[in-house]
Amino acid sequence: MKKKLLLAIPILAIVIQFLPAPAKTNPPVDPARTLQAVMKPPAGVAGILERACADCHSNETRWPWYANVAPVSWPVRRHVEDGRKHVNFSEWLKPGDTNFTDWNTLEDICESVKSGEMPLAGYDWLHPEAKLTDADRQAVCAWVDQAFEGAK
Ligand code: HEC
Repeated sequence: MKKKLLLAIPILAIVIQFLPAPAKTNPPVDPARTLQAVMKPPAGVAGILERACADCHSNETRWPWYANVAPVSWPVRRHVEDGRKHVNFSEWLKPGDTNFTDWNTLEDICESVKSGEMPLAGYDWLHPEAKLTDADRQAVCAWVDQAFEGAK
């Protein structure tokens, strides 16, 4: 009985690789429509967004190897799919828009780092470069404030 159970585990591990999973995609990026191009954040802020957010909030996800191994791949892929739906640096200008109007999303970026809600819990275990210092959080919010000021 025990032997059979032990055999079942590797078989199950293989079988689940063939179950349907969220897609692992990197859709094309129009460089003119990215957050970087439209908002021109200072290099420090651009760097923070790149290292701590872009994997889930852009079309330029650096997929880790475990994004190919079920069941770990399922939440990883779902987080990217979900993250892009909420905020996508690569599609900062929505199709058809010629200038930026989504100020709520910009405000949310500051709120999400200030509250510690983002980067998503657990992400920094495997991506220590995504850990944000207080100075990082302040830099992001100062940039957001400046963008609001500039638009007045
Ligand atoms: C591991 C993936 C991941 C990383 C890394 C990540 N996010 Fe998210 N983010 C998500 C997911 C998933 C959601 C949607 C579900 C939720 O709100 O928890 C989300 C939602 C958001 C939202 C919308 C929140 C709302 O209230 O609607 C903002 C803003 C946001 N993220 C900003 C950021 C910023 C800024 C960073 C980097 C400092 C970041 N995220 C890093 C996955 C991630």
